[in-house]
Amino acid sequence: MKKYVIQGGAKLHGDVVVSGSKNAALPILAATLLTDDDVILRNVPRLKDVTTMLALLAKLGKKVILEDERLIVQEDVGSRSVRHEATYDIVKQMRASIVVLGPLVARYRQAIVSLPGGCAFGPRPIDLHLKGLAALGVKIEMKHGDIHASARNLKGASIDLMGEFGSSVLGTDNVAMAAVLASGETVIENAAREPETIDLMEMLGKMGAKIEGAGTSTLRIHGVKKLHGCDWTVIPDRIEAGTFIAAAAVTGGRIRLKACRTDHLEAVLDVCREIGIGISEKAGVVTVTGKKPSAYKGFNLTTMPYPKFPTDLQSLFTVVGALSKGISSLREGIYPNRWSHVPELARMGAQIQVENETAILGECKGLDGASVQASDLRAGAALVVAGLAARGTTEVRRIYHVDRGYEELPEKLRALGAHITVESDTLV
Ligand code: EPU
Repeated sequence: MKKYVIQGGAKLHGDVVVSGSKNAALPILAATLLTDDDVILRNVPRLKDVTTMLALLAKLGKKVILEDERLIVQEDVGSRSVRHEATYDIVKQMRASIVVLGPLVARYRQAIVSLPGGCAFGPRPIDLHLKGLAALGVKIEMKHGDIHASARNLKGASIDLMGEFGSSVLGTDNVAMAAVLASGETVIENAAREPETIDLMEMLGKMGAKIEGAGTSTLRIHGVKKLHGCDWTVIPDRIEAGTFIAAAAVTGGRIRLKACRTDHLEAVLDVCREIGIGISEKAGVVTVTGKKPSAYKGFNLTTMPYPKFPTDLQSLFTVVGALSKGISSLREGIYPNRWSHVPELARMGAQIQVENETAILGECKGLDGASVQASDLRAGAALVVAGLAARGTTEVRRIYHVDRGYEELPEKLRALGAHITVESDTLV
C-alpha cells in the first residue's frame, strides 16, 4: 500500500488546471451502453473510478481506445462476455457501477447488476433507482445479492424521485437512461439538478434522446427507438476545484484555478467570501487568495442538493472551519453519518464535536502533523488538506481512497509548492 507524506506549512502558489468531473464522467461512460455506435469522450479524468468503469464496460462488451486526449468507446464485436451482467467483483469496487442498470435494461431489456453494499458513510440505498425503473415496466427481483431486472417493453410513466434526503443523482441518471428508449413520455419529478446530471442529459441529447428540463426538478423525456454515437466533452470537476480552494485557503496561499465552471461553484464561493477567503472570478478562472486561517470568520453551513453547498466538500470545509476563528457548525443534510474524517482531524488537534448530523467546530491553535488514515475519498482529501496546513509531518494512509477520485493530486499539489510525496506504507 501507499501513503502520502506531507510536510505542512508551504503556502500554495501558482496555476492549476481543473480536471474533468469524475461524477459526470461515470454516468456518461455508462451511457455509451445505449448505442452500438462509437462514442468519443473528451476531458475524462484519469483516476481509479474511471478505470473501474472502463473495466466494467469491457465486461459489458465495449472496447475503449485512448487516442491523444480522447476516449473512444466502441462495440467489441469479438467479446464473449455476458453483455448484460455487472458482477460483484467490479460493483464492490465502486458503488457508482449501479448506473449501468438503466442503460442495460434499456438496450437489452434485461440486466443483472450486483447490489452495491453500504459505504463508509452510511447505508446508501438504491430504492429510488428501482422504484423509477419499476414504474417504466421493469420487473425487479433480488437473487443472491444481485438485482435481476427484465422488461418486455419499457413504457413512459410519471415518476417522483423525491427521497428522504432529497433527489438522487445517480437515481435520476439511471431512470432517465432507461426512459430515453421507452415508448411514450416519461416525466420525472424531483429530478436531480446537479451539473453532472445536466451534463449527462445534454450528452444523451447529442445521442438523439429527447429530453426537456435538464437542470430543473422536472425532466420530460420523449422515448426514441434508437440512440447514435456522439462526441462529448465532460464538464470540469467542481469538487476537485473546491478541494484546491480549501487547500489554498488553509495554507494562506494564492492560486489560480483554470478551466473552472464558476457557475457550478456559486454556493461554495459564497461561503468563501463570507468567511474572508479572497475570491475573484473571470472567464473560467477563479483566483483564491488565502490568509492566515485564524483570520477567517467561523461559519454555519448545511450540505444540500445542488445548487446548495455540496456534501462532497463538507469534509474539506470541516478543515477550513477547524482552523477558522470562533465557532463553526456544519450540518450534513445528505449523508448524516459522513464524518469519518473527524476522529482523524481530532488527532491533529481539531476541536470537533459531532452530534447526529451536525459537527460543531471550536477554535484550535492550529493543527499538528500526525499519522492518519483515509476511510473514504473525500475524508482522505480533507486529511491531505489538513496535512498541508499542519505543523510538521502528516502521513495519510489508505490513499487508494483518494486515488479513486482525484487525478494526479500529489503532482498537482507539488506544482503549487506543496511538499507531498508518495511512499510505500509498511504499516498496513
Ligand atoms: N438515496 C436514497 N435512495 C436512493 C438513492 C439515494 O434514499 O435510491 C439517498 C442517499 O442515501 C443520500 C441521498 O439520497 O442520502 C442522495 O444520494 P444520491 O443518490 O444523490 O447519491 P449518488 O447518486 O449515489 C452521487 C455522487 C456522490 C455524491 C452524491 C450526492 C457519483 C458517482 N456519486 O452519489 O459522490 O456525494 O451524488 O451529491 O456521482 C463522491 O464523489 O465522493 C461521492 C460520494
